[in-house]
Amino acid sequence: MNTTITQIKAHKSIRAYTDQPITAEQLDEILAAAQQAPSSSFLQAASIIRITDKTLRAQIMQLSAEQAYIAGAAEFLLFCADFNRHKQIVSDAKTGFVEQLLIGATDAAMMGQNALVAAESLGLGGVYIGAVRNHPAEIGELLGLPELVIPLFGLCLGYPAQDPEVKPRLPRALVVHENRYQPLNKTLLAQYDDQMRAYYASRTSNNKDQSWSSQITAILGREARPYMLNYLQQQGYCKK
Ligand SMILES: Cc1cc2nc3c(=O)[nH]c(=O)nc-3n(C[C@H](O)[C@H](O)[C@H](O)COP(=O)(O)O)c2cc1C
Repeated sequence: MNTTITQIKAHKSIRAYTDQPITAEQLDEILAAAQQAPSSSFLQAASIIRITDKTLRAQIMQLSAEQAYIAGAAEFLLFCADFNRHKQIVSDAKTGFVEQLLIGATDAAMMGQNALVAAESLGLGGVYIGAVRNHPAEIGELLGLPELVIPLFGLCLGYPAQDPEVKPRLPRALVVHENRYQPLNKTLLAQYDDQMRAYYASRTSNNKDQSWSSQITAILGREARPYMLNYLQQQGYCKK
């Protein structure tokens, strides 16, 4: 179709990097692309913390399921929802609404994806790190995150030292509905489960015998960071 779409469709998370640094010019372009993302009500309710300090990076790695690529990546960017900036400008701003969490999270996600797409266009690879939410309060402490700033996800970036296969996505008909929500098509799901089982069995690294349904069954059989509501409220979110 065109090079932008071809590149987006070729996305794969990269978790191993060469030692080659990302230049200041490249980083500047990636951050400019991130900042140009659309923003709900133009609130620009997200912040990025670039972690250049090696000790800090190692500490974040430890708090984020010890994922080695956090330390190995040329760059590590932490994306946060941020209404603290607004509070500094509008001292009597009404905050604490769940809606503001959604705004901050969607703004940050759009910035993150702009950054990743821009990085991939420069020949770099990356992976998001949701595991920064394993210990959000501790990470907040390390980075001095004030009220109304919460870590949402990290982004590791660097030159790829691996070339994994593109991971198949759900069949379009299970994801895109026309006019009215459609119930799950179990035949299509079974086909996708077969496709994913074959993908996991044959990919070049981290092979496993698993379908997509069994993967999500395992994930959804566990509690999902049950401390989160408490943490969000401590940071000034989700009070009403
Ligand atoms: C918000 C978010 C958080 C993620 N967190 C992690 C993570 O902590 N560790 C990791 O290895 N991958 C993480 N991933 C990457 C996903 O595992 C990956 O995108 C998914 O398996 C699809 O693979 P692909 O990106 O190669 O297509 C995260 C992705 C997103 C969108």
